[in-house]
Amino acid sequence: MTQDGLRLLVCVNPVGSNKPSCGGDRASEALAARLEQGIADRNLAVTVERIHCLNRCLRGPAMRIAPGGKFYLEYGEADIPRILDELAVEAGTAEDHPEEFDFGGSAPGS
Ligand code: FES
Repeated sequence: MTQDGLRLLVCVNPVGSNKPSCGGDRASEALAARLEQGIADRNLAVTVERIHCLNRCLRGPAMRIAPGGKFYLEYGEADIPRILDELAVEAGTAEDHPEEFDFGGSAPGS
């Protein structure tokens, strides 16, 4: 359903080597789960991918829209509704990305 939609790369790295980490002291795994629930509730064409490091460790929790989209840094639970609003504008819903198109028999010879 979301193969044509956006990917949200959420850093859940639990281990920071001598620095903070998104999934360690900043609990981004819970935020990723909250984002997935919000995306499902709104039926957005976005897939959450948990990754380990976006090289923004000092400003985590960090995530990024892919391919090549904006970063979200130092976000928290209170920011998630606004982030979901932005994702809805960027990606649309699953209905905007149907897996097949039915043209109702308008092809020549049909
Ligand atoms: S640990 Fe999340 S950006 Fe590096």
